[in-house]
Amino acid sequence: MHCRNLVGFFTLSAMLALVTIAAGAPREPTEHRVPPSAMKEALSYKAPFGEARTAEPEIVAAGKKLYEGKGGCVLCHGISGKGDGPAAHMHQQPPRDFTNCAVQNEREDGELFWVIKYGSPNTGMQPLIPSLLSEEEGWKVVAYVRTFCTAHS
Ligand code: HEC
Repeated sequence: MHCRNLVGFFTLSAMLALVTIAAGAPREPTEHRVPPSAMKEALSYKAPFGEARTAEPEIVAAGKKLYEGKGGCVLCHGISGKGDGPAAHMHQQPPRDFTNCAVQNEREDGELFWVIKYGSPNTGMQPLIPSLLSEEEGWKVVAYVRTFCTAHS
């Protein structure tokens, strides 16, 4: 009886481990995070100040303040934007490394905004607009996020 329980325990543990791997296997960072059904909507989102990459310095500075302060982005994405913040290790899916230009070049501004607004399901990336940031603040943060990739095409 004791032995059977042990076998059952190991079988259950193995199954749980498999489920965990299936649910949480890290996805390629370049893979789109906006689901196809929402892509049209995401691409229609535009910053009120135009292209995020060419935002005025005051907007970028305001975004930095939100990123490092109220927005709490720094906890996971890190001061450097490399996804190495103090809470980064808590996530099976690592926080995005914003210095990765391959990802930045794959994304329209609206896609970044969409993820900040709706989050990325089953990851530490929670919906943060409007609970934490207003839409206007969200766009300022996008402008700051863009500055981490310094060699964009
Ligand atoms: C609790 C940790 C955590 C916090 C806080 C957090 N993020 Fe994230 N973020 C993540 C993780 C994890 C991912 C990766 C999700 C994925 O790979 O699908 C992510 C992904 C993203 C992406 C997606 C980039 C892409 O590939 O399209 C953007 C944009 C983003 N975060 C912006 C922000 C901003 C801006 C803030 C602050 C307002 C913030 N995040 C706060 C954990 C966090």
